[in-house]
Amino acid sequence: MDLADFDLISGRADTYLDGINKHVNDYKDEFRKPDFHMRYSKKTVESMPYLSRNAVEKAMAQLEEAGYEFKRKANGNLDSFSFEDVIAIYEQRKVPKYRDQHSKGFVAYFNNLKGGAGKTSACVNAIHAIRTEPSLIHQDIRGLVIDLDPQASATMFLKSNLSVGGQPFTAAKAMFNKNLTREELLRDYVFETDVPGVYVIPAAIDDAFLTTSWLEECEDSLGGQEPHSLLKENIIDKLQCDFDIITVDSGPHMDYFLLNGIVASDALVMPLPPSPVDFHSSLKYLSQMKVLMRYLMEQDIDIEGKELIGFMNKFSPHILQHQESLSGATICLGEKMLDAHIPELSGFQRCGVTLDTVISVDPTMYDGGRSALKSAQDAIYAFARSFFARTQLIRSRQS
Ligand SMILES: Nc1ncnc2c1ncn2[C@@H]1O[C@H](COP(=O)(O)OP(=O)(O)O)[C@@H](O)[C@H]1O
Ligand SMILES: [Mg+2]
Repeated sequence: MDLADFDLISGRADTYLDGINKHVNDYKDEFRKPDFHMRYSKKTVESMPYLSRNAVEKAMAQLEEAGYEFKRKANGNLDSFSFEDVIAIYEQRKVPKYRDQHSKGFVAYFNNLKGGAGKTSACVNAIHAIRTEPSLIHQDIRGLVIDLDPQASATMFLKSNLSVGGQPFTAAKAMFNKNLTREELLRDYVFETDVPGVYVIPAAIDDAFLTTSWLEECEDSLGGQEPHSLLKENIIDKLQCDFDIITVDSGPHMDYFLLNGIVASDALVMPLPPSPVDFHSSLKYLSQMKVLMRYLMEQDIDIEGKELIGFMNKFSPHILQHQESLSGATICLGEKMLDAHIPELSGFQRCGVTLDTVISVDPTMYDGGRSALKSAQDAIYAFARSFFARTQLIRSRQS
């Protein structure tokens, strides 16, 4: 083969990928409802924390008097609320939000060097779930996903039209532009996802080339800025008051993206896949954690107070081997293990087809059984509750 052959094959791959993506996006444009599909029955809303029938009716009357419009049926009845309606009701009731208790966002870096462990899947599904889980809605969590993986899988799930081809406004590019202001980041780099209130800073394939010239770029373009702190200093410190939970996803490489993820985070969140080969690889990464931490300390980086959260992903409780891995994980990680795990469910895989999360997918466009989707949603909500509670515990220890 010569260069022309590579050009030809690369070109075909580009075209094919564009075709797949175009198909998915055209399909969504044609069939997806314009607004976020999730609705909550009046009964459900009345049973949410800090609400009751009286509280909901009073808030509705006050909101309508002030000009707020709930979507009613022709006969004037209201059978369900949109996600925004529920937020408006909580606001009317003056229930404190996350941001009223915490001035800065919590940063969770989903990491494990084992590819396929479920970093991306957990990272994007969890943030949509934390935002919409009925018992957490009152927190009005503003979510942000920062995609550091040049493969851009998180971007693909959250904002599929950005995930193909060159993208000028990626997290990696923002890391290498220290003059960007908060306003410029919010305007150019932060994109809405299909769940209102959850945003993404995308990745793109050409970000990968940065790893080969990282230190030179730090010297030449950033005036010698500390190379492990670019994510923290050039993005997160600027946006920490605009978002409540920030999740970071990266690829399975021991590189500067990974080290920047560790430095920027309050907690390292590690999905542990229980099948033997995957579990062994995950343990190997865990066993190297101490080396990574020592290395960072030698670079004068403060790692005090950084936390670790482990959980099983792709877990099937009836498989003995999986139970054995769970025991092993509990022995190694002790109370750092979450009590919730993410089971192995077709819903998580199938949403990859339409480039959605199990929360953002419009059920009318989901090609599997409804009960399969419901199982995946219930599982990620259980995970979100457990994960969120853990972040609150860590927060309380930080202050
Ligand atoms: N809980 C789960 N149940 C079923 N499939 C899963 C689950 N978590 C992840 N997967 C699938 O496993 C594959 C790898 O997951 P991914 O999140 O991309 O891993 P990573 O980001 O660690 O490389 C994907 O095809 C994904 O759909
Ligand atoms: Mg990934």
